[in-house]
Amino acid sequence: MKKSTCRLSCLMPVLFIFCLSSFSQLSVNRLRTENLPDPLTVESRLPRLSWQLETRDRGILQTAYEIKVSDRPDGGGAVWNPGKLQSDQSLQIVYGGAELQSGKKYYWKVRVWDNKGRVSPWSATAWWQMGLLHPEDWKAVWIKPDMEEDSVRSPLLRTTFVAEKGIVSATAYFTAHGLYEARLNGQRIGDAWLTPGWTSYKKRLQYQGYDVTHLIRPGKNAIGAMLGSGWYRGYIGFSGQHDYYGKDLALLAQLVIKYKDGHVQTVVSGPSWQSAYGEVLRSELYHGETIDHRQEKRGWCEPAYEATGWSGTQTVDIPKETLVATISEPVKKQESLHVKKVLTTPRGEVVIDFGQNLTGWVSVKIKGNAGDSIRLSHAEVLDKAGNFYTMNLRSAKAQDLYILKGGEEESFEPHFTFHGFRYVRVEGLTGNLNPDDFTAVALYSDMPATGSFECSDPMIDQLQHNIQWGQRGNFLDVPTDCPQRDERLGWTGDAQVFSRTAAFNRGVEPFFTKWLKDVSADQQPNGSVPFVIPNVLGAGDGGSTGWADVATIIPWNLYLAYGDRRVLEEQYPSMKAWVEYMRGQSKDNLWNTGFHFGDWLFYRPTDDVDGKSAVTDKYLIAQCFFAHSTQLLIKTAAVIGKKEDVSKYTLLLQQIKDAFVREYLTPNGRLVSGTQTAYVLALQFDMLPEALRKQAAGRLAQNIKDYDYHLTTGFLGTPYLCHVLSRYGYTSVAYRLLMQDSYPSWLYPVKMGATTIWERWDGIRPDSSFQTPDMNSFNHYAYGAIGDWMYRVVAGLDTDEDGPGYHHSLISPHPGGKLTSAGADLQTGYGRLSCHWKLENESLSVDLVVPANTTSTFNIPAPEGGLITEGGQPLASVKTISVEGVERGYLILKLGSGEYHFKVTK
Ligand code: BGC
Repeated sequence: MKKSTCRLSCLMPVLFIFCLSSFSQLSVNRLRTENLPDPLTVESRLPRLSWQLETRDRGILQTAYEIKVSDRPDGGGAVWNPGKLQSDQSLQIVYGGAELQSGKKYYWKVRVWDNKGRVSPWSATAWWQMGLLHPEDWKAVWIKPDMEEDSVRSPLLRTTFVAEKGIVSATAYFTAHGLYEARLNGQRIGDAWLTPGWTSYKKRLQYQGYDVTHLIRPGKNAIGAMLGSGWYRGYIGFSGQHDYYGKDLALLAQLVIKYKDGHVQTVVSGPSWQSAYGEVLRSELYHGETIDHRQEKRGWCEPAYEATGWSGTQTVDIPKETLVATISEPVKKQESLHVKKVLTTPRGEVVIDFGQNLTGWVSVKIKGNAGDSIRLSHAEVLDKAGNFYTMNLRSAKAQDLYILKGGEEESFEPHFTFHGFRYVRVEGLTGNLNPDDFTAVALYSDMPATGSFECSDPMIDQLQHNIQWGQRGNFLDVPTDCPQRDERLGWTGDAQVFSRTAAFNRGVEPFFTKWLKDVSADQQPNGSVPFVIPNVLGAGDGGSTGWADVATIIPWNLYLAYGDRRVLEEQYPSMKAWVEYMRGQSKDNLWNTGFHFGDWLFYRPTDDVDGKSAVTDKYLIAQCFFAHSTQLLIKTAAVIGKKEDVSKYTLLLQQIKDAFVREYLTPNGRLVSGTQTAYVLALQFDMLPEALRKQAAGRLAQNIKDYDYHLTTGFLGTPYLCHVLSRYGYTSVAYRLLMQDSYPSWLYPVKMGATTIWERWDGIRPDSSFQTPDMNSFNHYAYGAIGDWMYRVVAGLDTDEDGPGYHHSLISPHPGGKLTSAGADLQTGYGRLSCHWKLENESLSVDLVVPANTTSTFNIPAPEGGLITEGGQPLASVKTISVEGVERGYLILKLGSGEYHFKVTK
């Protein structure tokens, strides 16, 4: 008896482990505060907390969660502990505890319950630190060098201080007029570049916070920063203007050291700091940087450095009310690219080819004599003859000059500039060029990579590569039009056109949330939105249709991709002001006044004898976007509970559409502009009476056939072209456009060797000559907006307005064209969502992953008489899937989370 009891109890743990292992674990990870991992300068008094559930089981939903927030790393000192809450919400839970204190660090963890009755272990502890919330929290004063002002040179500013023993933590805050690079005890602080980033400086100036605990030591320390001209006082815009925000560089720095015994030491910028010029003789974003190592102040930010001969500093009266915390990922160094080829051009130039058009700079190792120098010039392309081509950079010199100190091997890389390039011309090298000495470094905002797309056609894969590099090259703290010429501005049209594609490829929620604050800040009192944000053009340079609609389009796209309600709430006044501006400009709800860029860079053959130039009436376009923005305002008002506005703008929307029909549509259903863009916009935004839509779609398809399956659309028509075709049953026509490789088409640049998206359909003409150098960028993301159709229709991963952020996803792959396989993966806020399809021997297989705590509606092609299985089992026998119906040759299934393997056999 005794013996058997013992046996059973000995077996118990084994049995228990066996039972557990038949279920996968439920765990919580990827904790985020304000959409960032462990952020250091949170500005929101009500930060939002998000997490992901991790489990491989099917049909998992969160049913409850429990969050604990405390102000001590060990979990003691609870500041918010609301207990277990029944809810399926796992993204953006608004903090609801005690008032959060400026500069203080908070720790949090979470556990969840699921619909299988399981509870997860507590997550690992995450944290956030509040930024400096009030202007009075800044004890530092603004300083500038007390030296004769040099309008291009980079000053150094420094001080020393003594720290005590028992340091617990140290946070350094910096910002500047101009750009800064901060140092502590000889080390660079942080890995962010081109800080404080670019905002509408007079209204909003970002500061950054850094954890520098590991850099401080008891005893003497040195802290300082080098400043550069940057956007603040350097050349900005295409009209040769500089000093746009001001003439003088200045620094604001504050270091807060906390000690074990609870006391706090604050080291701040002030008049006791010293200043001197160093080795950076000149830096300009457009023109490049000159560094002279002979003028290096070696060890200038080390405690032992003797700052003899240094000048003092002056305090400057700059308001602190405009200071804002950084809420987006800063610019960081990303890929390093090695030399692909070294060429000698017909003109005898020594040119490095890095094989990829990118944004960043080249770092160099070199040995030589004092005073030797090398000059690096940057270009995107070689001309027809194979020579280095820089005409399309316009006035941007894009040259870095490095002057040697002599002796040991020296390393150079710029601090306060960036270039858009694939080729680098090297001048001044005495010996042979050693490829190992040159590395191209890509620089862009540190947005997490989230989406990927691949298919069986290498040309389309290259197109996707180009789309992704277009984004990398142009998301440099603000969404720029291009990275190479004397422009690089936050063009609103380009940004809105590409925003949905961007939100698939990268996590752009913080990036765009920050930039939208500048959209609001620079919006005119009458609601007009400037052409570029931050606005460095004139106050009246705004209000162009399709550009200014950035105010409504991007917030809505962020809501779809990330389920972010707050961005809608915060941007609502700006959205509404833009719609009201259009209403104010219109007469009888017809908006046909003012300047508009129109369907920018549409197909316009130089020899237009056959009348094929695809000009779309600009006011017809304006009316379409007037409706679109109004529609988005209505949807937003509904989400954030502004019922009165829903009714008010629903009425307006109908009037806008009626006015459109009166002005631009013949009774037989023809639009006054018979272009692809006109039909695309009218159909995309539901401008036509229901009864005329089908035939309008037919006219669009016919127009495309008349151009032998070529597109003729510009910036505004292109993003919606294939979507409209698919919506009206012409996916096969959309595929022919996608797979077209003669001009104008998406694959034409690919065929011509593009590694990024071009500004123009024919940046390089079929005879290898260039389009006009006045406007011919080879890194302009707008036409990359086709990505959105590839992801949502070809691969089939789509959002649902009623379950935004992919809480409910719509999966509907569309095999077609000559593709035999395609697929996309997306790291959503909930986890990985993916769909890959493959055609093989008369059968179609589709592999899906649906993240935990989400559901999906999956449309699977269902040929008549075909057999559909999942995991090798007939569909009817798979309990975790429910069949909802059949529509347009697709079987509609409802799925919970998990992995699925479908097969359709004819
Ligand atoms: C920019 C664009 C922009 C356009 C305005 C150009 O110079 O590079 O991409 O949208 O001007 O139409």
